[in-house]
Amino acid sequence: MRIDKYLAHMGFGTRKEVKSLLKSGGTRVNDDVIKSPKVHVDAEHDVITVQGEIVEYRQFIYLMVNKPGDLISATEDADEMTVVDILEPEDHLFHPFPVGRLDKDTEGLLLLTNNGQLSHRLTSPKKEVGKTYVADIEGHVTQEDVEAFSRGVTLDDGYHTKPARLQVIESGEVSRIELVITEGKFHQVKRMFESVGKRVTYLKRTQMGELALDEALDPGEYRELRDEELDYLFELTNME
Ligand code: URA
Repeated sequence: MRIDKYLAHMGFGTRKEVKSLLKSGGTRVNDDVIKSPKVHVDAEHDVITVQGEIVEYRQFIYLMVNKPGDLISATEDADEMTVVDILEPEDHLFHPFPVGRLDKDTEGLLLLTNNGQLSHRLTSPKKEVGKTYVADIEGHVTQEDVEAFSRGVTLDDGYHTKPARLQVIESGEVSRIELVITEGKFHQVKRMFESVGKRVTYLKRTQMGELALDEALDPGEYRELRDEELDYLFELTNME
């Protein structure tokens, strides 16, 4: 990879800024001062320093977003703002994409990464990673609904869902529930409630497996995953 691209990728500024940084002469690759932006480096094996500080090689990025209910889970869209539009430029450079999808009006935990393998494993139906949602439902959610969900319900297209754990937190004219599902069919939570004649009026994802949304993040905020959170996801998906 060209050194200018690499340094931009590592957060040293735009390609133009990196070019003048290189010109200033403080960049070395294996002890050779490099001034040309065109020089190719092996980022994994070469020792690259800027003003005497080693630039640690970094390939992947893992972000936890508290998705607000007005962004779409995509990397680009002609008309709408996407979750990657809220990222700082230095995070954008890694080209992260959403791990699975949340509906535009769904809030909460969304991971962004550029690690395709991890993303694939987290969303694979085979892995059965539990996704926990909190929702408001119009009308009373009953014990019958809890039992129906535990057996699986039949959606509008005839698909019978896997068993899901429904807990009623508060039953009333608007009920608050928590639901854990291990699949990710299109509009699954909304369609599961439709199958029992009820409507979801608010939906938020709070967990993927044991990884919980950091409640210190306001909607629209994000942070990098902590080491222990990433270790957990790697273990969960049997990644090296
Ligand atoms: N189920 C839904 O209906 N919507 C989501 O965004 C996620 C799960």
